[in-house]
Amino acid sequence: PERALEAMWDQEPKSLKELNAIIAKAGPLVPGATQAVFGEGPAHAEIVFVGEQPGDQEDLQGRPFVGPAGKLFTKAMTEAGIDRKDVYLTNAVKHFKFEQRGHRRIHSKPTAGEVKHYRPWLVKELELVKPKLVVALGGTALLALTGKSTPITRSRGRARFGSYEGYVTVHPSYLLRLPDEATKREAYEAFLNDLRRIHDLAQ
Ligand code: URA
Repeated sequence: PERALEAMWDQEPKSLKELNAIIAKAGPLVPGATQAVFGEGPAHAEIVFVGEQPGDQEDLQGRPFVGPAGKLFTKAMTEAGIDRKDVYLTNAVKHFKFEQRGHRRIHSKPTAGEVKHYRPWLVKELELVKPKLVVALGGTALLALTGKSTPITRSRGRARFGSYEGYVTVHPSYLLRLPDEATKREAYEAFLNDLRRIHDLAQ
């Protein structure tokens, strides 16, 4: 499998800039995305957060975590003592995939095949950033990092992703989808607790 992975590269990217150029050139697997959304943050950040795929706003702005889920995530990081500017934010899948409903573009979840397609780029991204801690935000990130489909509830907390120390928590968009305020508040508090632990683990 190592060999197969290596064979994918015409030229091995030596920097995030070179890696991103390769991703941009490859284009979306499913047509429709405006642009690739690359990882963002310091080239050697201590913490890498891995999300699922860019959403509508991310696709338009070309930046990760700038839509509703991203705003909630940024607020939670601040409350947990993590400065968004200090961490590296990326996604398992680098292009937005959606269903058009009238004027709205509704996010559609990437398939396991799509996650696999983007995986070598994520692996390379981590190799280049060399973080102390890699955080999976939700099931798609966890699948991308482990190759296995595991429920978040069972793997939440400290983890190991190959040679990286890891941590598993929910995706911030899950917090937005919860039905009532009390459940939302409780889930948000649990997410904050995870972020505080993540902050401490990366010290
Ligand atoms: N959700 C994600 O997983 N990533 C983003 O960049 C935005 C929303």
